Amino acid sequence: MALVNIKIEGISYQVESGMTILEAAKACGYEIPSLCAFNHGECNLASCRVCLVEATGARGLVASCVYPVAEGMEIRISSPAAVEARRNSVELLLSNHNKNCQQCDKNGQCELLYVAQLTGARDDAFAGSYSERHIDRIAPALVRDTSKCILCGRCVERCKNAHGLGILGFENRGFNTFVAPAENRSFADSPCIQCGQCVNVCPTGALMENSEIGKIDAAFKAGKHVIVQAAPAVRAALGEEFGYPIGTPVTGKMIAALRRLGFERVYDVNFGADLTIMEEGTELLGRLTNGGVLPMITSCSPGWINYAEYNYGDLLPHLSSCKSPHQMQGAIIKSYWAEQNGIAPEDVFVVSVMPCVAKKFEKEREQEKVNGIADVDAVITTRELARMIKRSGILFNRLPDEEWDQDIMGDYSGAGVIFGVTGGVMEAALRTVYYKLTGKEKEAITFEEVRGHEAGIREASIDINGTVVNVAIASGMKSAKVLLDEIREGKSKYQFIEIMGCPGGCINGGGQPYVRSCFLPNESDDILDTYKEKRAKALYTEDERQVIRQSHNNPQIIELYEKYLGEPNSHKAHELLHTSYAAREGFNELD
Ligand code: SF4
Ligand code: SF4
Ligand code: SF4
Ligand code: FES
Repeated sequence: MALVNIKIEGISYQVESGMTILEAAKACGYEIPSLCAFNHGECNLASCRVCLVEATGARGLVASCVYPVAEGMEIRISSPAAVEARRNSVELLLSNHNKNCQQCDKNGQCELLYVAQLTGARDDAFAGSYSERHIDRIAPALVRDTSKCILCGRCVERCKNAHGLGILGFENRGFNTFVAPAENRSFADSPCIQCGQCVNVCPTGALMENSEIGKIDAAFKAGKHVIVQAAPAVRAALGEEFGYPIGTPVTGKMIAALRRLGFERVYDVNFGADLTIMEEGTELLGRLTNGGVLPMITSCSPGWINYAEYNYGDLLPHLSSCKSPHQMQGAIIKSYWAEQNGIAPEDVFVVSVMPCVAKKFEKEREQEKVNGIADVDAVITTRELARMIKRSGILFNRLPDEEWDQDIMGDYSGAGVIFGVTGGVMEAALRTVYYKLTGKEKEAITFEEVRGHEAGIREASIDINGTVVNVAIASGMKSAKVLLDEIREGKSKYQFIEIMGCPGGCINGGGQPYVRSCFLPNESDDILDTYKEKRAKALYTEDERQVIRQSHNNPQIIELYEKYLGEPNSHKAHELLHTSYAAREGFNELD
């Protein structure tokens, strides 16, 4: 690694050659305000001009996010010209901004307000006219409000990087520029998979999840039986909203908070994950032994399902027909649980807390409904749950650790916990498939070869008693496309494929807490490099702590089949727990 000598504010440093001034200054402990630059050059359009500094060898001020360091360079962040220019840049952004901060869900985590504070932008120095506002609230998962957009381009780059999709782009020119799907369509009228990865990177309230907190408030007021279920990845990240280090599992405190928010029952979606494995593992074994369509592909990520329906309609028979865990569990709450408790299904209101915004879309699908009744009535993200806890006045950090309700459902195995990480569904399924093929448990319970926390493709050949199962795992649609094209071309060597919509799986879902070093002062500066690994570790640790680590050994699952469902893949199980897909071609025209 070559080093260069530089000076910042007259103090000598050695930094890596090739770094930008912004990166070098950060490595030396300085904070230069920045907005459009993101994640080691993932977005580097240099459009916001918030990061201007003086540097020897340059003419005038330079954008530190793209200007590289050089041997002997002297950098001044504090020169009066640089300070004024940075302040002017922020004031210019604010002059064309809908500053209704008190109604904005981004308030408290808004990077524009953060740099306004940092640069001292206080005056309405450039007050004038505003660009035309475009607002899209049609899609169940997402809201786009161009009046809060600073045209940084982070969302545009993230959609390309994560999925190779390019749903969002710049429309028009100059003062009339805005960011939107092609032809300013709604997300709902474009092939957007509603994953929310663009929401995760937006510095302002221009892209947000479509909040469903109001629906829950209304259900409480209407006297419904409001039942909540929380997905595994939520407990691995919720603590970040309350000052815990990234990767701290806060399961017990989350349960305690949900109870205090008024939910009648607090269930773990891991029960539903165990149920999914029973259904999906049986389906896979059936396909392996009866000449069914292979490779079979997992179906618990609605972002992936959207992508498949838009782009690979010819491959839909490869998808497992299993609903995702929270939909399965919702269906069981509104049937078995409601029956056992003598409550009419229409009086039950099921809320899912999810790391994912696409689940908001999934719960609306007609194919998910049972006799016209939705399995789940509201989906809130990890971030929305944090907002509910904060507005309630609960001191999260002081809550005791409480246990899930486990009356007739809610018990779970370690296999269910790891669903939140890329490779987790595969591993959970293999634990049960191994048992079904051999009649005994695998001695070393885990399948390390399928583990990971990053996007990309992993593959393995698993020999189970002479039956070799070739498996592959992909997260993010860019990686998935490689595997799907192989199937289309008849070149796939796999029997079982796991695909997750978000890179790294649900731990990095579009509804997880924002990862920004400016709002996480106790974290080290490389959090964008390490947060996925840390959140994944929290889930693998919880798996290790479980006494029961295979879905087929969950006693409440065994009881559910004995008392209600019969066998996995039975007629009743199909009615409640399975779904169907349809290719989507062409889009509705906007009015
Ligand atoms: S995006 Fe930020 S500055 Fe804009 S209204 Fe929301 S909180 Fe305020
Ligand atoms: S929700 Fe996902 S697919 Fe849609 S624009 Fe955002 S990143 Fe792209
Ligand atoms: S929508 Fe958000 S991420 Fe996209 S350009 Fe606007 S401010 Fe940037
Ligand atoms: S952060 Fe450098 S120009 Fe935007």
